[in-house]
Amino acid sequence: MNQALDIVAAGWKSWKGQGQTLVVFAFQESAPVLLGLGKEAKILAALAQSDGFKGKERETFIARPSDNKPAERLLLVGLGKKADFNLEVLRRAASGVVKAGESLSLKQIAVRVPQIGRGAAQLGEIQALGEGLFLAAYRFDRYQKPESDAPKPLEHVTLLSETLSASVGKAIDHARIFSTATTLARDLINEPPSRMNPERLAEEAKKIHEGSLTVKVHETKDLEKMGMGGLLGVGRGGAVPPRLVELIYKPSGKAKKVVALVGKGITFDSGGLSLKPAQSMETMKDDMSGAAAVLGVMSALGELKPRVEVRGYLAIAENMPGGRAQKPGDVLKAFNGKTIEVLNTDAEGRLVLSDALAYACSKKPDVVIDIATLTGACVVALGHRISAVMTNTPALFKSLKAAGDLSGEKFWELPLEKEYQQDVKSKIADVQNIGKRRGEAGAIIGGLFLQEFVDDRPWAHIDIAGPSWTDSDQPYCPAGATGHPVRTLLHYLQSL
Ligand code: BES
Ligand code: ZN
Ligand code: ZN
Repeated sequence: MNQALDIVAAGWKSWKGQGQTLVVFAFQESAPVLLGLGKEAKILAALAQSDGFKGKERETFIARPSDNKPAERLLLVGLGKKADFNLEVLRRAASGVVKAGESLSLKQIAVRVPQIGRGAAQLGEIQALGEGLFLAAYRFDRYQKPESDAPKPLEHVTLLSETLSASVGKAIDHARIFSTATTLARDLINEPPSRMNPERLAEEAKKIHEGSLTVKVHETKDLEKMGMGGLLGVGRGGAVPPRLVELIYKPSGKAKKVVALVGKGITFDSGGLSLKPAQSMETMKDDMSGAAAVLGVMSALGELKPRVEVRGYLAIAENMPGGRAQKPGDVLKAFNGKTIEVLNTDAEGRLVLSDALAYACSKKPDVVIDIATLTGACVVALGHRISAVMTNTPALFKSLKAAGDLSGEKFWELPLEKEYQQDVKSKIADVQNIGKRRGEAGAIIGGLFLQEFVDDRPWAHIDIAGPSWTDSDQPYCPAGATGHPVRTLLHYLQSL
């Protein structure tokens, strides 16, 4: 659940909280370089060094200056070498602050902003610090009794910047907005799949009633009328029927562009009749990560106010092997009229997305981006830290990659190779939902299939099958759903 961490800004020079614990960051050079302090920095650095502190990434050290300056207790946190510094280093370091604060049972802590860059760079650093703090405080513990000796969470952080300006407050606001959007996605995904079923996910979308947002849910009857054979086909095996949720955010002025975001929302992927082995199913509640990311993004727009119109489409179904389930060999007809031979019911993401993508395109947006935990092959190719992007517009990959460089989320381009296009042609329908050369280029085949349902407008497919989930605790994300790539998409929308 979302942790109620509160971050406020204060000016360093007028700070009067000397009785508190003060966090100071340090670079690892020949001697540690304490950042943002005055003349006491050198003396303190020498003291810390004599006790073995080097300033390595996420190394921590507690010092109690004899004259209580600049605070009674200092928590030094290493940032590693200055040459290797980037915003991700700061986010990870901030997570170290949250952990150290918890282990010291602190309710509040003050953090000296390290003052590395200037101007916009400085504000980016404050946002990154804020994100690291907010996101590291996230827990999904609603199904656990707290242990009596469990560390109490940190509640209050004061960020001490050189001067206190409106833009510092705005950077902290952005950190909060980006993090809340991310933790909303994490919460939706982490929720057990029989609770977070298609009905509930659509309800959660309706709860986002920002003034500037409209939400419409298309249920079975509407889907039938609209000719959404892909969504209906996948949904047939489950007890809870599928939905298509449509959210629209309009900026107050004239929109510079219209962006459509389409998310795969399989609330549980058993594989359907092409049933998955038990172990592969263990994490398949995360197969709605694309839809959850789109919802996270939409929830932030009212506050973030980008100057673009954003349309979110969530293609929601559960993929189950019930008595009415679709069968290998069945033929479906998608929203754009193309027929699909279903040869493997476990390749269901592309079926629900075929309708949602074609529908999104029919409304003529300037850009379409789909986000999906589409293929295990993508995890084989790029692992759990990198998402694949396939696009018909090279500049779109560049923009997403640049947004990822700001968020710390990683993307790599895979080609939509034309020579493989014939691999998704079917003998009896327009296309088939798996490639002919089984097991080869699986992530690309998924992208090529989706391309059959978009027109010529700029489109990118992001396969997040790896990064949407982490089996182990990460610096600012506990094991489970990560909320990737919410922050990247928000940076991207802000850049337009
Ligand atoms: N949801 C899975 C993809 C997936 C696998 C996501 C592992 C995260 C981790 C998807 O629906 C699927 O099962 N894809 C099949 C496609 C195949 C049948 C062509 C796959 O990857 O095996
Ligand atoms: Zn599947
Ligand atoms: Zn799936």
